[in-house]
Amino acid sequence: MHTQHKIILGSSEQMPELADASIQLMVTSPPYPMIKMWDALFAKADPKIEELWSKLDVNGKEETLGQIYESMHDYLRSVWRESYRVLVDGGIACINIGDATRTLNGKFRLFPNHSRVIEICEKIGFITLPYILWKKPTTKPKYKGKGAFLGSGFLPPNAYVTLDCEFILLFRKGNLRKFPPNDAQRYDSAFTKTQRDEWFSQIWTLKGKRQTASALDRRTAAFPEEIAERLIKMFSLKGDTVLDPFLGSGTTVHVAMRNERNSIGYEVDQNLLSIATQRAFKDLFNEIDFQIIKR
Ligand SMILES: C[S@@+](CC[C@H](N)C(=O)[O-])C[C@H]1O[C@@H](n2cnc3c(N)ncnc32)[C@H](O)[C@@H]1O
Repeated sequence: MHTQHKIILGSSEQMPELADASIQLMVTSPPYPMIKMWDALFAKADPKIEELWSKLDVNGKEETLGQIYESMHDYLRSVWRESYRVLVDGGIACINIGDATRTLNGKFRLFPNHSRVIEICEKIGFITLPYILWKKPTTKPKYKGKGAFLGSGFLPPNAYVTLDCEFILLFRKGNLRKFPPNDAQRYDSAFTKTQRDEWFSQIWTLKGKRQTASALDRRTAAFPEEIAERLIKMFSLKGDTVLDPFLGSGTTVHVAMRNERNSIGYEVDQNLLSIATQRAFKDLFNEIDFQIIKR
């Protein structure tokens, strides 16, 4: 099948390149609020966040930390709103996100990003579907937010449960997609019974990408291809268009190409273009159109 793919270098807070109701599936993983590796990106994207960090340095207040968290989610909210606009009725949005922990002035806090995203997406109009827990083969449990339990870790009650799951949140816009009876494209996109039994269960145990990845992949916090592959096959048909508004190293576009879906990815970091382009053409066996658009 001949498919079309676009990488747009620009922010997905606005996606004027995409018409309303033109995308069947969104698969993405945003920068995670309150995870240190993304602090600089959020601060650069929104000067208010930069100011709040400076204020926190002076006042050390939890309230200010809470405002930073909310502002980070405000930034992501505009992308979820745009994604809603461009999805067709019955289109599905898959958002991979992890929670974060942070200690301020010796006080430990959990930032439950997954529940904040659900609240925000429901306000936008999305219907929340049962979600997936992506369990990564674990690192060691933590004691007081640092390192392993050590000896004292066997004593109750002050140790914390390790964050060894991320969330793959699933949402639908509007009603179920409708198809004519015996729709050939739909039957041609069917998954197997084994795939259905494994993919539609709630816990996926898969290694994170970083265990085998290059330094650049580590910088983008790429998700494993297996995650994109499953989601694309579960929630789209051959010939559909898949959007990733936070493209990173290009996993979603690469996997969409391999699976005869069209794709569109947005990325603000131009340094990632070379890795996304190289990956797109690796192992390629389908006939494709590939376009890079600089805003
Ligand atoms: C967690 S990474 C995505 C990793 C991706 N799933 C992969 O497999 O490589 C998030 C990406 O979103 C990008 N980003 C952040 N804000 C953006 C925005 N408003 N529009 C487009 N890309 C953005 C970051 O530069 C980063 O590369």
